[in-house]
Amino acid sequence: MKKITINKIKKKKGKAPIVCLTAYSKTIAKAADKCCDIILIGDSLGMVLYGMKTTRDVKLQTMILHAKAVKDYTSKSLVVFDMPYRTYANKFDAYKNAKKVIKLTKCDAVKLEGGKKVASIIKYLTEKKIPVMGHIGLLPQTSINFKVKGKYISQQKKILDDAKVISGSGAFAIIIECVIEKLAKKITKSVSVPTIGIGASKHCDGQILVIDDMLGMSDYYPKFVKQYSNLKKIIEKSVKAYSRDVRLRKFPSKKYTYN
Ligand code: KIV
Repeated sequence: MKKITINKIKKKKGKAPIVCLTAYSKTIAKAADKCCDIILIGDSLGMVLYGMKTTRDVKLQTMILHAKAVKDYTSKSLVVFDMPYRTYANKFDAYKNAKKVIKLTKCDAVKLEGGKKVASIIKYLTEKKIPVMGHIGLLPQTSINFKVKGKYISQQKKILDDAKVISGSGAFAIIIECVIEKLAKKITKSVSVPTIGIGASKHCDGQILVIDDMLGMSDYYPKFVKQYSNLKKIIEKSVKAYSRDVRLRKFPSKKYTYN
């Protein structure tokens, strides 16, 4: 299979939907690589894997470990590293940390949350040949609430402006999180780079979901999550069956025993 490049992703705008998922481990990376254009090692791992209350507590080193596992088992998809909170507070920190990430993980790009505020950082990184994916709308690292964005005209204007500015600063694609349909459609039409929606309607150029959510392993599901499986139930059922077998001395039977 041929490796998907940033240019290929850009060319898909308005032509073919871009399929993206988050992944944090080898097994998921192998499955996602077969079907996805982009795999994101999202800092959502802090909440879904480590049970943190917010993504703000995620450390760069933790992300690097997961990113290495994902990248090592991905051959086709473009792999994007989500820069954790406070690792890109200014352009110099951003470059130092992004350079370290790319060197250690071999990821293809990094993602930063924010609009106008991070535009100069995006510009600096892209000038230094580090490809950047943007992220606007609901920003989990800094949002005070997780409500849908774009209900008010002022908010719509701000988010549209954010999209235009970061696309102009060199972002090769933009994640739009949790905004009303009308706004996502307008942004997608207004910027030259692909938009990737998460809770941002079918009008984006691509879609992304958090893997644990779409597999049905989470505790809470926003309206925009479609559960394609119910792994939580399957895991609980399997653990229960195993514990019953052990207690009844049914496991290990002859089949699982060395003679
Ligand atoms: O951290 C993450 O998983 C993300 C997605 C929600 C896009 O940023």
